Amino acid sequence: MEIYSSYEATSAKKVVLLYSGGLDTSCMLRWIPEQYGSKLIALTIDLGQPADFLAIKSKAENLGAEKAIILDAKKEFAERYISKAIMANALYEGAYPISTALARPLIAKKAVEIALLEGADAIAHGCTGKGNDQVRIETTILAMAPEMKIIAPIRSWKMNRDDEIRYANENGIPIPEKSKYSTDDNLWGRSVECDVLEYPDREPPSDAFEWCELPENAPSEPEYVKIGFAKGVPVELNGKTMGLLELVLKLNFIAGKHGIGVIDHMEDRVVGLKSRELYECPAAVCILKAHKDLQKAVSTIHQNHFIYSLEEKWAQMAYLGLWQDPLMENLDAAIKSANEKVFGEVELKLFKGSAIVVGRSSKNMLYDLKMATYSGEQAFSQQCSPGFIELYSLQTRMWKKVDDNGNLGKQQEYAKETA
Ligand code: ARG
Repeated sequence: MEIYSSYEATSAKKVVLLYSGGLDTSCMLRWIPEQYGSKLIALTIDLGQPADFLAIKSKAENLGAEKAIILDAKKEFAERYISKAIMANALYEGAYPISTALARPLIAKKAVEIALLEGADAIAHGCTGKGNDQVRIETTILAMAPEMKIIAPIRSWKMNRDDEIRYANENGIPIPEKSKYSTDDNLWGRSVECDVLEYPDREPPSDAFEWCELPENAPSEPEYVKIGFAKGVPVELNGKTMGLLELVLKLNFIAGKHGIGVIDHMEDRVVGLKSRELYECPAAVCILKAHKDLQKAVSTIHQNHFIYSLEEKWAQMAYLGLWQDPLMENLDAAIKSANEKVFGEVELKLFKGSAIVVGRSSKNMLYDLKMATYSGEQAFSQQCSPGFIELYSLQTRMWKKVDDNGNLGKQQEYAKETA
């Protein structure tokens, strides 16, 4: 049974294709105008992935695109998306810094902007029907431009790789060398899938890594880096003020060299699949560690214990690409407010695959040496503690007492049920 959604295009006049320059989207460049009788604009967005954008542009033009647009969105990605992920300590399922996920809504937003500007009635993408990316991209497009039609050829054209190669040969499409892995790169990280990585019991081979040195080959001397924060966002690296884009690029290089940032994750995709994902996120791992540490130092116990639930929800929403949902704005407001006092510096020691926080300082720190110290002058009144413990433990002790007197207390009932 085939089910098509009403927002999928059956015809189109002008299509904006999210174009990477790879085999899939190059075939689409020909296939879409052929199938839909449409004009086509190729749109490639630079988010820090290693690519020859000039070559991609001329490839699209040579293959017949009416227009090929290259858009540099790195700064916007850093300042509007990555900065929020840092403030939210965003780790999906406690592990994945949502690097790919974070970029999709921005890519979709740019596609909508260009489509509206160019008078296009459909947007096409190269995502498969098994992943999260289709969900993120289409949700964003439909929320921003409800009339827009979607074309997702991989879901519908029924071509396998051999068919695509045949189609490419027939249409004069250059065939890039097949890479073993399916990858996605941007400033915040690199995702690696396929080939042997589909076997979750096997260690990722060394050729899966491009950003991170293997820990065993990393320098045998540690390197220290200091990250300075203002309102929860990194603003300094090793004492030098810089924009987030530059800082992330520099830190990816430094930490990657020390083998930091490898994440091997059993992941729950939104489409119900569980998959083994491999990530290289050197800067993200360092910055998130440093940020969490500093935030804990300047926030109260109540703030610290509560914020986790908001952060977890934020990461799930961002993983889903639900930036258009009002809950995202609600969460952003709370998270922004929880970062107002996050100023200071965190020092990390980078060594053979690990990044350890070794120091932090802040004008807003709620740490007081005179209170905390075990030596010298003491400001903490230890004689207050017995009274505190007496009241704090009151209910626990009462509950125990009922039980000790032979009454049927909760503990006995529970013990019976589980006996
Ligand atoms: N599982 C990750 C995510 O959903 C990575 C997806 C990688 N995408 C890709 N086209 N290789 O965010």
